[in-house]
Amino acid sequence: MSAFPRIFVAGATGLLGGQIVRALLDQGAPVRALVRPGTSEEKKRALIALRAGSLEVVEGDITDPVERLAGAIGDAAIVISAVQGGREVIVDGQANLVRAAEKAGAQRFIPSDFAIDVTKLDDGDNFMIDWRRQAAAAYAGTSLDVVSVLNGAFYEVMTGFMGLIDWEQGTLSHWGDPDQPLDLTSVADTAAYTAAIALDPAATGTLRFAGEVMSMRQFHEAVQRGAGRTLRLRHLGTADDLRTEITRQAAQTRNPFDYVALQYQWCMVSGKAKFESLDNARYPQVTPLPLADFVRLTAPAL
Ligand SMILES: NC(=O)c1ccc[n+]([C@@H]2O[C@H](COP(=O)([O-])OP(=O)(O)OC[C@H]3O[C@@H](n4cnc5c(N)ncnc54)[C@H](OP(=O)(O)O)[C@@H]3O)[C@@H](O)[C@H]2O)c1
Repeated sequence: MSAFPRIFVAGATGLLGGQIVRALLDQGAPVRALVRPGTSEEKKRALIALRAGSLEVVEGDITDPVERLAGAIGDAAIVISAVQGGREVIVDGQANLVRAAEKAGAQRFIPSDFAIDVTKLDDGDNFMIDWRRQAAAAYAGTSLDVVSVLNGAFYEVMTGFMGLIDWEQGTLSHWGDPDQPLDLTSVADTAAYTAAIALDPAATGTLRFAGEVMSMRQFHEAVQRGAGRTLRLRHLGTADDLRTEITRQAAQTRNPFDYVALQYQWCMVSGKAKFESLDNARYPQVTPLPLADFVRLTAPAL
C-alpha cells in the first residue's frame, strides 16, 4: 500500500505526460494513466513497461461524457492533465475533465499549462496560451484545488521545434535583445517538478520553475559548449520586428500553427512572459539538468 494518494494522468502517452507518469512511479506513487481508445499496443506496452505494479492503464478520452470519465478517474485524489490539442481539447476537454474529477471526488487538478508565464500575456499574443487562460476561466468555479505548473520553454523546443538552430549550416538565429533573460527547462525536469508538486499536499496556486535562466547570448554559448562546435549567431531583428513578421505571416495563412513558434518566441524575447520569481527552492530534491549537458546528450553528430 502506497503512502501517496492515487494520481490520474491524462495525456500519459505524450512527450511530457509519459515522463510525468515515470517521475510519479519513481517516487512510489500509484498512477492511473488514461489512454485513448485505439491507442497502439506499442504505446500501451511502453507505458506499462514503466512499472507494472503501481501503474494502471484505463481507456478513455477527456471529451467523454462526465459520468464515464468520472468512472475512469475512480478513486484518484489528484488529476494531472498533460494533454495537447486544439481548443476542443485544451478548453472544452479540460473543463469536462474538471467536471468529471469533481464528480469522482478528486481534490486537486493540475492543468496542461506547462508554459511561459501565461498569467502575464494578453489575448492575441499567443493563441495556444489564450486557450490555457480560457480553460482556467471555464473551470474557475471548481471545488478542486487547481495548481498550475509553469516551466518556461522546454530545452527540447528551444533546440528543435523553434527552428533556432541549423546544425547543417552551423547557425543559431534569434530575434530580440540577446541579453533578455529567458526561462528554460527540460521535459524530464518539468515532469520531476510536476510529480513533486502532485505529492506535496501544501502546493497551491501557480508555481514557476526553470532549469536555466539565460539570455540568448548565454544560450548560444551553452549550445556551443554542449555540442563542441561553433555556431554563428544570427540576429534576425528586434522584438518589434518579430511582431511585424507575425502579423505579416498571419495575413498570409489560415493556419495559425504556421506562426505559433514565432508567437512563443515573441512572448519570450519581448520579456513579457518572463517569470518574476522561481519556486525551484521548494523542491531541492529536483536538480535540473544544465542546458549544455542536455545539448551534449542530444545534439546530432555531424
Ligand atoms: N513549455 C514548452 O516549451 C512546451 C513545449 C511543448 C509542449 N508543452 C506543453 O506540454 C503539455 C503536453 O504537451 P506534449 O508535447 O507532451 O503533447 P503530446 O506529446 O502531443 O501529447 C499529447 C497527449 O494528449 C493526449 N490527448 C490529446 N487529446 C486527448 C483527448 N481528447 N483525450 C485524452 N487524451 C488526449 C494524447 O493522446 P494520444 O497519444 O492518443 O494522441 C497524448 O497523450 C501541453 O500543455 C503543451 O502545451 C510545453
